[in-house]
Amino acid sequence: MTAVDALGSARSSGPSVQDLLATDTRPVPVPLLDHAAAPQGRADVPKARYASPEFAALEAAYLWTRTWQMACHVDHLRAPGDHVVYDVAGQSLIVTRTRDGTIRAHHNACLHRGTKLRTEDGRVASFRCPFHGWRWDLDGQLAEIPSGWDFPQIRDDPTRSCLPAAQVAEWCGFVFVNPDPGAPPFERYAAKLIEHFEHDFGLQDRVIAFHAVKEVPANWKVCMEAFGEGYHSLATHPQILEFAADENSQYSIWPDSPFVTRFHNAFGSHSPHLGDVDEQQVADAYLAFAAKLPKGAVPVPEGAAARHVVAEVFRGAMGERYGCDLSSRSDAEVLDAILYHLFPAFAPWAGVGQPLVYRWRPGATPDTCLMDVIRMAPVPDGAERPDPAPVQRIALDQSWREAEGMGSLADVFEQDMANLPRVQAGMSSTGKATVTFGDYQEARMRMHHRLIDRFVLEGLADDGRDRSEVERFLVPDG
Ligand code: FES
Ligand SMILES: [Fe+2]
Repeated sequence: MTAVDALGSARSSGPSVQDLLATDTRPVPVPLLDHAAAPQGRADVPKARYASPEFAALEAAYLWTRTWQMACHVDHLRAPGDHVVYDVAGQSLIVTRTRDGTIRAHHNACLHRGTKLRTEDGRVASFRCPFHGWRWDLDGQLAEIPSGWDFPQIRDDPTRSCLPAAQVAEWCGFVFVNPDPGAPPFERYAAKLIEHFEHDFGLQDRVIAFHAVKEVPANWKVCMEAFGEGYHSLATHPQILEFAADENSQYSIWPDSPFVTRFHNAFGSHSPHLGDVDEQQVADAYLAFAAKLPKGAVPVPEGAAARHVVAEVFRGAMGERYGCDLSSRSDAEVLDAILYHLFPAFAPWAGVGQPLVYRWRPGATPDTCLMDVIRMAPVPDGAERPDPAPVQRIALDQSWREAEGMGSLADVFEQDMANLPRVQAGMSSTGKATVTFGDYQEARMRMHHRLIDRFVLEGLADDGRDRSEVERFLVPDG
């Protein structure tokens, strides 16, 4: 069998992530050694999945109503009555702290004539509809119907008078919701994520130090996929190739964990595209990029690896900045870009310091979406837990650079953003009706598409609809 035939076996030149981990100067956290790469096939994927309002409607009906999604952080819900409005794909939930301290999520639509009960986050004593004044307690129980004599059919029936609830789970400070009351529990759905983050990858006990949400001119999957592989670094982020091992990144797909995947891009090691690069050059390029240090500021001794030398610099600098001891943290944790993904659209980074968290949601049309970027930070020793940073809303025509506190990350993001409207435009091109994914580097994307199909087909079957209705959108087998 040739390399071309052996699906999922071909890899780029250069050391693999596991090769690099084997040379780490510290013990590597066990989760980072947990890797599998289940191949996902090679069939092309229809572009209509990204551009058609009909497919967006299928996702709205059967994906966003049945999956676990991050709605907010517990710090948004400190006191009873604190609530966040989580809007996604035409659905709206009110996520709130009740008087007994639990967190609940209710469908945000009045049981009278459907009015959205809350349009903004905040703190209330109860949820009162602005139209005719029907009112619910924080736990979703009906509290008041003006002229109640006129509505005996709902007033006296607890099964009809409570606000319908969604499932709620809490993980690493984040609050997740699933509108499907019959969906498997979060603990099962996200088991791999939960297990891996038992190691302190920087989310536990952190607070939101930065939060921006931008409207992006591309389908939510186009945007999400732009952050899911290192393949695009060569053309999109050429400035990082000297110190980023792009083509030899690792993509983990565990056969027993369909909803959790991982992308691990080693840093402090050069791109295989560049051929031989001197270790001093790798260290110089990385330190110039990350710390604006001049060439040669940190010498790499003969025979040493730039990765190990730079990691030591970062351990000291980051430890000082965050007021913590990083001396036992692995090179991988202090250097690499390690991005977990919880299907459909939540992605926390793993590392030390101030990890980022991403979230994507569809926009008003298939051609737009919302992307949240959140930065978590430790609470300084002895300090009171600060309030979460307010959400900065960045409009379609604005740049990430307008988000205060985004820092130099905005420049890298803008390189990604420049591609997105062009990708979206190509989704309507009739020259070729499909996208073609790589066997390995883009396998997670193919897997996400297959999972979307799974939810769409299950939903259709539940509604007694026929598969033939959606056949043209589906990812073919193989
Ligand atoms: S629509 Fe809400 S009270 Fe009438
Ligand atoms: Fe990128």
